[in-house]
Amino acid sequence: MAQNLTHKILAAHLVDGSSLGTPGSEIALRIDQTLTQDATGTMAYLQFEALGLDRVQTELSVSYVDHNTLQMGFRNPDDHQFLRTVAKRYGIVYSPPGTGICHQLHLENFAKPGKTLIGSDSHTPTAGGLGMIAMGAGGLSVALAMAGESYRIAMPKVVQVQLTGRLQGWATAKDIILHLLGMLTVKGGVGRIFEYTGPGVETLTVPERATITNMGAELGATTSLFPADRQAEAFLMSMGRAEDYVEWVADEGATYDETIEIDLSTLEPLAAQPHMPDRVVPVRELAGLKVSQSAIGSCTNSSYADLKSVALMLAGKQLSETTDLLVSPGSKQVMKMLARENLMEPLLDAGARILEASCGPCIGMGGSPISKGVSVRTFNRNFEGRSGTQDAQVYLTSPLVAAQVALDGQFSDPAGWGAPPQFPELPGAAPSIRHLFVFPPEDGSDVEVIRGPNIVPLENFQNLPGTIETRIQLKTGDDITTDHILPAGAQITALRSNIPAISEYIFSRVDADFVNRIKNADDGPCRGVILGGDNYGQGSSREHAALGPRHLGVCAVITKSLARIHRANLVNFGILPLILKNPADYDRLEQGSQLTIPAASIQPGGSVTIDAHGVGPVEVINDLTATELAIIQAGGLLNYVRAKREH
Ligand code: F3S
Repeated sequence: MAQNLTHKILAAHLVDGSSLGTPGSEIALRIDQTLTQDATGTMAYLQFEALGLDRVQTELSVSYVDHNTLQMGFRNPDDHQFLRTVAKRYGIVYSPPGTGICHQLHLENFAKPGKTLIGSDSHTPTAGGLGMIAMGAGGLSVALAMAGESYRIAMPKVVQVQLTGRLQGWATAKDIILHLLGMLTVKGGVGRIFEYTGPGVETLTVPERATITNMGAELGATTSLFPADRQAEAFLMSMGRAEDYVEWVADEGATYDETIEIDLSTLEPLAAQPHMPDRVVPVRELAGLKVSQSAIGSCTNSSYADLKSVALMLAGKQLSETTDLLVSPGSKQVMKMLARENLMEPLLDAGARILEASCGPCIGMGGSPISKGVSVRTFNRNFEGRSGTQDAQVYLTSPLVAAQVALDGQFSDPAGWGAPPQFPELPGAAPSIRHLFVFPPEDGSDVEVIRGPNIVPLENFQNLPGTIETRIQLKTGDDITTDHILPAGAQITALRSNIPAISEYIFSRVDADFVNRIKNADDGPCRGVILGGDNYGQGSSREHAALGPRHLGVCAVITKSLARIHRANLVNFGILPLILKNPADYDRLEQGSQLTIPAASIQPGGSVTIDAHGVGPVEVINDLTATELAIIQAGGLLNYVRAKREH
């Protein structure tokens, strides 16, 4: 039967007896490559170390440092040193700070058609521009993939995005994905893979395709991908990697779950307005809006072609005196190409600030706009406050639009801009930067992993006891977010590799005495239960919001209902997620209530009765699978996998 490209790659990676079922059914995949960035990488490697293997089992694993590259104080440099040495010890390629942004570097140097990649960063789908299935995942999933474990996902629907025509005038690849975001919204891609097809595909180069697959993450999609065709071959040749090219295209007559059609010749320059990437309008409608800052870069738009087009637009001109322009190249390769073609000079002469090849302003590391300032950015997210200035108004556009507003000091109608710069999109033979990566030795067993004071190995959690005797240490209201459980902020996130230290902040903004109380409980390994209301654990997926409570001795969370990702994290770290069968029991239970939970009697999907001393019996249910229950009983996923591998 004719297969689409998504099904072809997935089918070639199915393991554990799974098959391509109906959308929503679970599939298990062999993962060929992994990537991490520094903000999530330290924990992923601590988790990998806890599995006790001597070397990663993947074809390729790369550790990039691109988020927290500023080295003010010891924590970030210590993290970088840990990442460098842990990579050498276990067979991982290390990319030092300043080499570039993980996704741009991965595309240029390591992405391969037909392979699978998971990365502990949500924009990992960028590599789908080279015809691979590349997905963002939690750090623990990446650690397990490095250990050779399968990666399990719900079988996504495959959406065909049929492209016809060719981009015209000032419209760019960024406008294709902004158009889709405007049409489908930030929820439109959930449970879906977007596969690009049709005659318009061959008009787009790999860097242009990567802009589209990168920002497919904003649709909520599992991933996005393009075929590996002549354009992919040309890109790999220009990167000096012709041998990595293998054709991967959909079969003639392949079918899809859904289809969307876009005629590229009808698109015009677009902008996403504050504070959501799907609030998309034509740039012409913003004409006259004053702009105080323009920022070009990020993993969405920092390729050679992106920055060359900006340099050509700025050549011989000066920025508006009221607008700053920040340029962060995606990699040192991009910088070298710009230098080789004397394209740094027009950027510098126009007044642009050239930043390090890193995430920089995209992650709020410098480059914050002025108060209430309008900032035009080529990035993928414009959430309120992400720029570092709470009341800034951030618009997302292509590099061409961002360069034009930097010259004019305001938005204007592209109809009056004349002709856009024209040049071959690929650089010919690009200069290599492969020597800047640290490749691991064949045998790293005698390499010392260096841990500064901020890097603390993961502890071994104990198995769940058969009977839990403990107290409700905290009763919360409804809609508790992972931010309530563990607040964000530079001071706290700097402790991401030190669970004992970061745990001091658990529930710190909800109940300042919580940590003290649970630490002083004398109930053995189970020192407390959290009683939550509806939608407990909503918000960001941060694993530390489960790891921290687990470190403190929380062994069960009893709620009216639980958010999906937090529930998964609770299971992964061995905390029982229990649901009140009768929500009215929430009112009967109090902070301090002593509970006896017959944990050994819990059955997957079953109910048990808790003895709440002085209150009476309280029935709780669960929606756990047999495997999930076994994971919790083993003390978490790391213990479970370790035990499985020993047998
Ligand atoms: Fe970095 Fe921003 Fe991309 S933080 S990985 S450039 S979304």
